[in-house]
Amino acid sequence: MQVDTPQVLFKNRHLGRPATLAEYRAGGGYEALAATIGKRTPAEVLQLVLDADLRGRGGAGFPAGRKWQGVPTDHVGTRYVVVNTDEMEPGTFKDRILVNADPHLVIEGIVLCAYSIGASEGVFFIRPSYEGDAELIEQECRVAREHGYLGNNILGSDFSFDLHVHRSAGRYICGEASAQIKAISGLRPNPRKGGPRTAVKGLWDCPTIVNNLETLANLPGIVRNGPAWFKALARSATGSGTKLYSVSGQVARPGCYELPIGVTIREIIFEHAGGMAPGKTFKTVIPGGASTPFLPEALLDLEMDFDPMRAAGQRFGTASLMVFDQGTCLVGATLSLMEFFARESCGWCTPCREGIPAIRELLRRIEGGQGTEEHIQMLTDLLPVLDKAYCAFAPGAAEPVRGLLTHFMNEVNAHIVQKRCPFGNPPPTLRGKACGTRPIQFGPTPCPEDQCPI
Ligand SMILES: Cc1cc2nc3c(=O)[nH]c(=O)nc-3n(C[C@H](O)[C@H](O)[C@H](O)COP(=O)(O)O)c2cc1C
Ligand code: SF4
Repeated sequence: MQVDTPQVLFKNRHLGRPATLAEYRAGGGYEALAATIGKRTPAEVLQLVLDADLRGRGGAGFPAGRKWQGVPTDHVGTRYVVVNTDEMEPGTFKDRILVNADPHLVIEGIVLCAYSIGASEGVFFIRPSYEGDAELIEQECRVAREHGYLGNNILGSDFSFDLHVHRSAGRYICGEASAQIKAISGLRPNPRKGGPRTAVKGLWDCPTIVNNLETLANLPGIVRNGPAWFKALARSATGSGTKLYSVSGQVARPGCYELPIGVTIREIIFEHAGGMAPGKTFKTVIPGGASTPFLPEALLDLEMDFDPMRAAGQRFGTASLMVFDQGTCLVGATLSLMEFFARESCGWCTPCREGIPAIRELLRRIEGGQGTEEHIQMLTDLLPVLDKAYCAFAPGAAEPVRGLLTHFMNEVNAHIVQKRCPFGNPPPTLRGKACGTRPIQFGPTPCPEDQCPI
């Protein structure tokens, strides 16, 4: 692996196992906390984060400091930090690698955030398939408590904060911040919209900051080395810091790489991930996790940074690159993603609950050689419907379809003209037992009621 970037978050990854407290401290770990508690005011920590222009690493890229500014300073009672380690976005595998490399970096970051917003309790929200990581964090929290970095009177000060692990029930929507708060509260985890922000009224109606785990892990570095250092880590004019890029698909070296914000997509794929796998030729990449569109080859020199990506009609998302080769059917790939989104819709609002299965059904038909021109029009008409959904889930699900129709219509058309998948994929199940949902009627095609489970 070519590494010419300072490894800030992955500093201890080379150990190949979680760094111990002693190993973390040997590299300056907990120095930021020691230089903060009782020595800097919470407002000074907030100012460092604002000046560093730290943007959320969980998908939306919202500036962390601005979110923290929303916490009412006059609130009497508990304030919470929720550490979002749900990581159910297909293609994204960074938070679990970070926890496994350096659990105390994560814990120190969380405590710094708690200090800045005056939180006394934290919830580490983690998906159930990461049980080993949940146990690791619990164990290292015990170690941190024993050494005065967590719990009552941290480092002998009057600041107390403790962290508890909450295992998710395991649905993708539980990663959405407001749904996550409901999930922790034992409520149905459909997102909340309108009303006060979670920074004002979140967990148990108290001020709550939800941040992605990677976002918070940047805090020790920012506090120790300063905002200018953090900004200089990025390669783009608008960027700050490094980023953990998850790279999967048809590349020679799939994996998670810490590289500057602003590195080009081409460099990530063709240098760090070793280029395409033997015998494979690049076709496209989904650059930011499943909720982002296919990116055409012409945009490979785009900088991986929030603003340049948006300006090019793309999305930075979780910076998780799924690479596809020329032999992969993109109708089939998009269908596969829609199977996921249709299954994971929380069902709260009609555009998403009905719209995504309808898109899935259309893609099944096109992939199975039964598609028509009319189906393409229906797909096109459905995309703006998803944008009217209640939360960001459905607009995100629409992105790969939008990318398919914008950049790869030739593949869609080839399915329709040839009446089969030109890549030789077998036809997907149409409205059959495998779909597990009620049938959707399109045009004159009769519904095979005898196959439908409902
Ligand atoms: C459907 C959906 C799933 C999400 N899943 C995650 C997730 O697994 N992890 C995460 O950090 N953010 C996830 N988010 C984004 C969160 O709502 C929220 O923006 C984020 O946790 C805020 O942290 P950040 O500002 O540090 O990125 C998801 C959003 C949506 C709409
Ligand atoms: S868009 Fe989907 S996930 Fe979001 S509230 Fe509506 S049904 Fe639920």
